[in-house]
Amino acid sequence: MLGIIGAMDEEVAKIKEQMDNVKVMSKAAMDFYEGTLNGKEVVVVRSGIGKVNAAMCAQILVDTYEVEAVINTGIAGSLNAQIDIGDIVLSTDTLEHDMDAVAFGYPVGQIPRMDTLSFEADEKLRALAKKVCGEVVPEVSVFEGRVVSGDQFVSDKGKKDWLVENFNGYCTEMEGAAIAHAAYLNGIPFLIIRAISDKADDSASMDYPTFEAQAIEHSVKLLLAMCEQM
Ligand code: ADE
Repeated sequence: MLGIIGAMDEEVAKIKEQMDNVKVMSKAAMDFYEGTLNGKEVVVVRSGIGKVNAAMCAQILVDTYEVEAVINTGIAGSLNAQIDIGDIVLSTDTLEHDMDAVAFGYPVGQIPRMDTLSFEADEKLRALAKKVCGEVVPEVSVFEGRVVSGDQFVSDKGKKDWLVENFNGYCTEMEGAAIAHAAYLNGIPFLIIRAISDKADDSASMDYPTFEAQAIEHSVKLLLAMCEQM
């Protein structure tokens, strides 16, 4: 069973429409849709926004469904001039950019007393996603790089520059690293797939609503095709 998490209803609605034999279970104000997607057994859920919602959601997927892996799909702000609105970023690794224990000598982003700075995504899932992108969204550029997550919608050039300087992130969003963190603690693989809705700068809050639908369409297309090949 594969767990699929999107933060917002808009991000999972199109995926749910394609599912068969659906059973719904509600827990912690989240509805878990269990069924098949292109023949693959999946649980699809809207976690809600932010790291706490996302981590709780991932833990419920592990505890209740014993998921073999988790994919987080959705949209993100680009942190790289090469990565444009509509493009896709597949996570190589991810970290929580708002974790700060610098006062104790940890690098920014490092969770004290954990043995890793960032959480490594599963290479097999990433390779499959990369291959499928070329097949179903050939017009879209696909990048593989670090996803940085925090409880903040980044819409400020200064903050964006800070994220690039400190983490060399490819895109920023608000859930991926929390899901990765939960996956890491439970020893299961994960991948974050994000389509770019904005540039995480001063125009982000204007671009976001304009490009949200297009970005969601790209990530959903990719996910459906991946399920077919899993
Ligand atoms: N999700 C989409 N765009 C984002 C941004 N600029 N910051 C945080 N999360 C986002």
